[in-house]
Amino acid sequence: MNKVGWGILGSGKIAKKFAADLALVEGAELVAVGARELPAAEAFAQQFNIRHAHGTYQELVQNPAVDVIYIATPHSHHYEHGLLCLQHKKAALIEKAFTINAQQAKKLVRAARQNNVFLMEAFWTRFLPHYLKTKEMIAEGKVGSIQSIIAEFGFKPTPPVAPRIYDPALGGGSLLDIGVYPVFLALDILGKPDEIVAQMIPAPTGVDNQCSILFKYKTGALAQLFSSFNANLATGADIAGDGGRIRMTHRFHGPTTDLEYYPDIVTSRQVVDFEKAKGNGYEYEAQHVTNCIKKGLVESPLRTHADTILLMETLVEIRKLAGIRYPAD
Ligand SMILES: NC(=O)c1ccc[n+]([C@@H]2O[C@H](COP(=O)([O-])OP(=O)(O)OC[C@H]3O[C@@H](n4cnc5c(N)ncnc54)[C@H](OP(=O)(O)O)[C@@H]3O)[C@@H](O)[C@H]2O)c1
Repeated sequence: MNKVGWGILGSGKIAKKFAADLALVEGAELVAVGARELPAAEAFAQQFNIRHAHGTYQELVQNPAVDVIYIATPHSHHYEHGLLCLQHKKAALIEKAFTINAQQAKKLVRAARQNNVFLMEAFWTRFLPHYLKTKEMIAEGKVGSIQSIIAEFGFKPTPPVAPRIYDPALGGGSLLDIGVYPVFLALDILGKPDEIVAQMIPAPTGVDNQCSILFKYKTGALAQLFSSFNANLATGADIAGDGGRIRMTHRFHGPTTDLEYYPDIVTSRQVVDFEKAKGNGYEYEAQHVTNCIKKGLVESPLRTHADTILLMETLVEIRKLAGIRYPAD
């Protein structure tokens, strides 16, 4: 295989950032875009110098130049669009939240294995240098035995607000949109919790405007996680143990955060260096996927199918406890 041919399904906000970052990925070429309307696809193709513009997603998945498709539609449509790609033997990288529920996630994993094609959740944080550094420091014992994780993600949507933010039919609500990051962090660092407590405050549409979650572990660790569409929060994260604390200062899920280390928890702040992203930060996950496809893998060794299913099962459990429901349930 020479270059891996990328296609983008959906021409919205995040698709544009991802398209720009693909130019930084070695061994990858963005060859096609598909949108629901041809003019949107054509405008996107012109902006990013893409050879093929398709006015339907069906045409995109039939394009022989495409090896892998980045799915950037609302969460409610990830299952349908993921299945469309996999059934046409196209590898798929699907934005978070991966699906609406765990059943849909499991069906996608089954379809990927049956069709022998690569499938991964686009959890970009997992591939970012500051996060890899954080994991490395934890593995080196820099924080000792982890006792607590406190992570929050909050922003006030400003007009024009995309319909997907509050519409239950599009999987709206703070948990699936942004709460997914604090939940990912706790699962990735501490694993599956032994007990979960969760509460939410609804928006007028019924989806959660704010969601507060507690994970309890038999080890004695607790994770306090929070998402909000009501306030612009720092969106920081603390990982603290009996030997020290790591803090991701702001927008902890993305490449612009700062990383701090407090060896004795309260004082002695140390700023930790890590590689700065050249693009928006999506180039790291895109490089990983490109490499996996070149190797003929069906699953990422870094963001496995089991990781994705655990996240989706945990989100379902939180939703059950907090009372967050969707038409797809
Ligand atoms: N990883 C990250 O940092 C990050 C950041 C933001 C969002 N996201 C995720 O990316 C996904 C898209 O978010 P976004 O902010 O890019 O959304 P957006 O700007 O609203 O774009 C969504 C796109 O989906 C397509 N679409 C297909 N069916 C649709 C429907 N029924 N209603 C609305 N749009 C439909 C549309 O593309 P066409 O009409 O062009 O086909 C639309 O442009 C979400 O799952 C979100 O959680 C991830």
